[in-house]
Amino acid sequence: MSQKKTALRSAEWFGTIDKNGFMYRSWMKNRGIADHEFQGKPIIGICNTWSELTPCNAHFRRIAERVKQGILEAGGYPVEFPVFSNGESNLRPTAMLTRNLASMDVEEAIRGNPVDAVVLLAGCDKTTPALLMGAASCDVPAILVSGGPMLNGKHKGKTIGSGTAVWQLHEEVKAGKITIDEFISAERGMSRSEGTCNTMGTASTMACMAEALGVTLPYNAAFPAVDASRYLIAHLSGMRIVDMVWEELKLSKILTRQAFENAIRTNAAIGGSTNAAIHLKAIAGRIGVDLNLDDWTHIGRGTPTLVDLMPSGRFLMEDFCYAGGLPAVLRTLGDADLLPHKEALTANGKTLWDNVKDAENHNQEVIRTLEDPLVNDGGLCILRGNLAPGGAVLKPSAATPHLMQHRGQAVVFEDFDDYKARIADPDLEVDENSVLVLKNCGPRGYPGMAEVGNMGLPPKLLEKGITDMVRISDARMSGTAYGTVVLHTAPETAAGGPIGIIENGDWIELDCANGRLHLDLSDEEIQRRLDARAQQPQPHDNLIAKGGYQSLYLAHVLQADEGCDFDFLVGCRGAEVPRHSH
Ligand code: FES
Ligand code: MG
Repeated sequence: MSQKKTALRSAEWFGTIDKNGFMYRSWMKNRGIADHEFQGKPIIGICNTWSELTPCNAHFRRIAERVKQGILEAGGYPVEFPVFSNGESNLRPTAMLTRNLASMDVEEAIRGNPVDAVVLLAGCDKTTPALLMGAASCDVPAILVSGGPMLNGKHKGKTIGSGTAVWQLHEEVKAGKITIDEFISAERGMSRSEGTCNTMGTASTMACMAEALGVTLPYNAAFPAVDASRYLIAHLSGMRIVDMVWEELKLSKILTRQAFENAIRTNAAIGGSTNAAIHLKAIAGRIGVDLNLDDWTHIGRGTPTLVDLMPSGRFLMEDFCYAGGLPAVLRTLGDADLLPHKEALTANGKTLWDNVKDAENHNQEVIRTLEDPLVNDGGLCILRGNLAPGGAVLKPSAATPHLMQHRGQAVVFEDFDDYKARIADPDLEVDENSVLVLKNCGPRGYPGMAEVGNMGLPPKLLEKGITDMVRISDARMSGTAYGTVVLHTAPETAAGGPIGIIENGDWIELDCANGRLHLDLSDEEIQRRLDARAQQPQPHDNLIAKGGYQSLYLAHVLQADEGCDFDFLVGCRGAEVPRHSH
């Protein structure tokens, strides 16, 4: 293992015999720590998103204890620190509003402190990208440990999935099929253990993305939060990060363009969340890798979806784990030459292919074969056209095939409040061929780009048995949601995008096969409406004036196709700190 020739970054704090060294060491010793415990050893930060307000990450102190034992066993010294915890379920108006804030917290905490490397403890949706973004901007050695999914949801003898069950059961309430009391009674059954959403929602997707990128140990993504193996992975990751310091295995050696191409292909194979398109772009931007929406077309399209998990399919993460987890998927892809870069380096020092080439698939219903996939072409569909010059995204595996080529007339909601006020109106002029359009829910418009793009259907159509319609917005949707839903339309309404000029009755064409999203108006009419709209005050103007973090957010957030990072955070700034604190 360790050649121990590498100069330790932490020695710039603890390694000098002078006034500065005295100060750094002396305060460390206030817990009764001896010099030999930390002097000359890799100091490993454990970046913890533990919070009781992020229920998905509420078990992270116990996971951190196993990481610490691994670090000590391998000859390092662990220092655990908290960072802003972005909990998807509780945070309003949306956890996406503070993803970049969390990433700033992570970046500055790493750079400013005497750590040689970090273990990133992440679980709930935004915590994984936030931690990777912050660590990537410092480019220190880093390994990510996921918190793991909840056990399978169970309710009245049926298996139900996190989030997905909420959308499904709530539509049944609105259609008059179940009572509100029956709906509420599913709460406990849906969330049976600690951990993240057990569907292939954004948390599971991002855990799989991290594994495909190579920043975790193999099998990290799927072990349930309460499985003993989750704690084993934590321990082994703690051991491994110490050697990564001596090997100078920085994030930039793992997070290469090749790694992102592997991740994009993997996202199609797992039926992953549309949110991955935003988060991967943001992470890539921090490490200096050029990635754009068209890469999702070139690399992702044509890839079959193999993983039969809700919301696209039938099973849940616990089943995925028992079936062989992500390594079984990657092996299937690799055997068929569908893994773009087998040679990509991963955190354990081996290539991605070395890690997975002997992986077994124990259940071909859960991880389907290439001959019998869940969806033939599961790659995210990137749409462009006069309605989305910057692009828009649709998830084919969650959509209704016949609606993916559709021409219909717009039913427009100016914002989410307008939608909520009118969607149940029996007089709303809408039928199953209409296209529901939701404006002002993008990064700036909501603000925070909430997960409201999978807007529920009008109750009068649900009562008729209609279960899907084409919906278009500048919002995101939960990775646990489904439907023929066009998301991330860029530029958004609040950035002057053409989605903002759609009026009731306009004809819209969705053509997924050709990646086209078209507003059937003349160029002159579009320009006339855009000019008229530019004269109107923007709803976020008064929010900027209010000050606070939201004001910083509104001034600097980039559009969805650019990853919704802040313009001033893009890029890698390294881990150098030239000055001392006293
Ligand atoms: Fe935290 Fe789904 S709400 S993972
Ligand atoms: Mg989510």
